[in-house]
Amino acid sequence: MKGVILAGGLATRLRPLTLVTNKHLLPIYNKPMIFYPFEAMKRAGVREVLLISSPDHSGDFANLLKSGEEFELKIYYGVQQNAKGGIADGISYAKEFAKNEKIVVILGDNIFRTDLKSVIGKFEQKDKGAVVYGVKIPTHSQQYGVIEVDDNGMVLSIEEKPEHPKSDIAQTGIYLYDERVFDFISRLKPSARGELEVTDLNNIYLEEGSLQCELLDWWIDAGTSHEELLRANNMVAEKVKAGEL
Ligand code: G1P
Repeated sequence: MKGVILAGGLATRLRPLTLVTNKHLLPIYNKPMIFYPFEAMKRAGVREVLLISSPDHSGDFANLLKSGEEFELKIYYGVQQNAKGGIADGISYAKEFAKNEKIVVILGDNIFRTDLKSVIGKFEQKDKGAVVYGVKIPTHSQQYGVIEVDDNGMVLSIEEKPEHPKSDIAQTGIYLYDERVFDFISRLKPSARGELEVTDLNNIYLEEGSLQCELLDWWIDAGTSHEELLRANNMVAEKVKAGEL
């Protein structure tokens, strides 16, 4: 299993904080935001991770993370040319790196504690399919992809930012994919907002009945707004002090 962390984009929603830096380098309590997905990879036992970032700041990531000793893994670096290409476009850069292995993808602004190890272990035994991690959120699920699941955890539908959500499960930025993911991405067309959408990619797996949903107990999408960034700082500070992170 290879790891992919996406840390590109322009983060216009966080300006002026992101005018001269990449949002994933901003602090969350006592560490840069990008440390959290790397720690999640380490907990999961992933040994090789490709970090995809933006052309302007890839050098800053290399200065900070070096070759990955601190996380006991090996870091490779890639650059997403089109900052507005979308999540699926970002994943497509991992094709050569993945070398026909399955991949775990984590968005660089996602903070969570759940250990992915056992789900990854089971996923590696499977012939094909994908896993999307969701989290129950009581309100504002309209700002995310919304996942509807059956009693066995198989995904029945995912809708991107629906007006009338069919469930209270939001799609997070954590995904496991089989080796076919790059072929599937090559079939995608840009959405109305001009991006290759991860929801469209996941819907290809859904259509063949091979998309499973796993739930996280808590999750923070730290990079979506100034409010969420502040909430992430406060929540992480509390959890660190309580020994929960
Ligand atoms: C993207 C996905 C969305 C998902 C979210 C999680 O949204 O399209 O389905 O819920 O990441 O962070 P975006 O942040 O690109 O609007």
